Amino acid sequence: MAAALIGGMLQQGLCKAEVQVIDVSDSARRRFEEMGIAAHPQWDSRTRADVVVFAVKPQQMKDAVSGVKAHCGCALVVSIAAGIRCADLARWLDGHGRIVRAMPNTPALIGAGVSGLYPTAGVDAADRRAAEQILSAAGKSVWFDDETMLDAVTAVSGSGPGYVFYFVEALEEAALTLGLDSRAARLLAVETFLGAAKLAASSDDEPAVLRAKVTSKGGTTESAIELMESRDIKACIIAAVQRAGQRAAELGDLFGKD
Ligand SMILES: NC(=O)c1ccc[n+]([C@@H]2O[C@H](COP(=O)([O-])OP(=O)(O)OC[C@H]3O[C@@H](n4cnc5c(N)ncnc54)[C@H](OP(=O)(O)O)[C@@H]3O)[C@@H](O)[C@H]2O)c1
Repeated sequence: MAAALIGGMLQQGLCKAEVQVIDVSDSARRRFEEMGIAAHPQWDSRTRADVVVFAVKPQQMKDAVSGVKAHCGCALVVSIAAGIRCADLARWLDGHGRIVRAMPNTPALIGAGVSGLYPTAGVDAADRRAAEQILSAAGKSVWFDDETMLDAVTAVSGSGPGYVFYFVEALEEAALTLGLDSRAARLLAVETFLGAAKLAASSDDEPAVLRAKVTSKGGTTESAIELMESRDIKACIIAAVQRAGQRAAELGDLFGKD
């Protein structure tokens, strides 16, 4: 994720010399160096940062924070770690007050992600712009005033690509059962999703209206949707996403417990 964010920012005109990476992994540092980015195993005490972005696994956050907290005093801290709450991060950072928590999603890797952002009270307008600029490398973003909404973001867009891939898998399997070869099945399933999502994004119509427009009376789409409705597929999807939201809250409790 860090490489995706940095790659996106470089494309937006950020100068390579303005970014430094700290990564304990030799292979990850080599990859950053191949991008022309200075990478170190720990903070070089001569380095001063305006913004420090934490992009490690949630279970590695406490360690990562303890290794650099002495240098974060005057910086805006941005965390993209799933489930790590600002209060826990602030506690690990000895009370740091300028934190933006972000929840991006996997399409960030190709600049097509969407992120939820939450600012702590010490974050000012300039900090918001700085955080937004970093996350804009990963795609679009939306701010929330209530941190618990990031659990909802995690359930909807954070885990969302997984649901989409699941649906694509199902569409592809269905295509195979109807006799299409695997190449055609993959192409039709993926492109249909891509095209329909682009249409929904660019249209003024609600998704339900777009659906109605492609659902002719007595036609093929109608017969498929009728079967889905009779089996409560929509209710099942809603329940599944709600369950993901509950799990996000549970993981927040777990990751921040010490
Ligand atoms: N991937 C996504 O789509 C996505 C979406 C939303 C949010 N996120 C969040 O983004 C964060 C980063 O995810 P990722 O998949 O990019 O993680 P990742 O591939 O594991 O990258 C993190 C890097 O940090 C290194 N590291 C571990 N502990 C460190 C420490 N104490 N100091 C410095 N470097 C350390 C890791 O080295 P080792 O490999 O040796 O541990 C690894 O090279 C996660 O918290 C995840 O929840 C990811």
